Amino acid sequence: MSYKILVINGPNLNLLGEREQEIYGTATLEEINKDLEIIAAQKGMAIEFFQSNHEGALIDKIQSARGDADYLLVNAAAYTHYSVAIYDALKAVKIPFIEVHLSNLDARESFRQQSLLSPIAAGKICGLGGLSYKMALMAACEALQGEDEGPR
Ligand code: DQA
Repeated sequence: MSYKILVINGPNLNLLGEREQEIYGTATLEEINKDLEIIAAQKGMAIEFFQSNHEGALIDKIQSARGDADYLLVNAAAYTHYSVAIYDALKAVKIPFIEVHLSNLDARESFRQQSLLSPIAAGKICGLGGLSYKMALMAACEALQGEDEGPR
């Protein structure tokens, strides 16, 4: 059985590579996505990428993943901390997802230490830069096709 993973990135992540490099690193989103494409191909997974700076567009994409994607990797960026609408969308579609962040939220401003999404995520990986996405993808692959008996 072939599975599909959808990677969703929120506002300002299109600026990776130039944006606050000391926090987010020097890799561009395109470079991160290329690495993910390689891992997905190795694992026999279909993968799709979506980035938007707009809350509604992110919600439309999450809704359209119903019946299409088997697992989501979600870096909702700033929306993580306050978007009830994105929380509702993820809850409504019931597609398992891993919350991803490049930076270590616990080491940053206090407003970043609250995530509306963590309580409904299958798991959360943050603080590892582009590696956060790779680890999340490997965990998603394991959850979909592996022997791991952890929570889904
Ligand atoms: C981020 C952390 C968020 O607090 C911030 O608003 C972002 C990126 C991260 O990947 O570290 O835009 O989600």
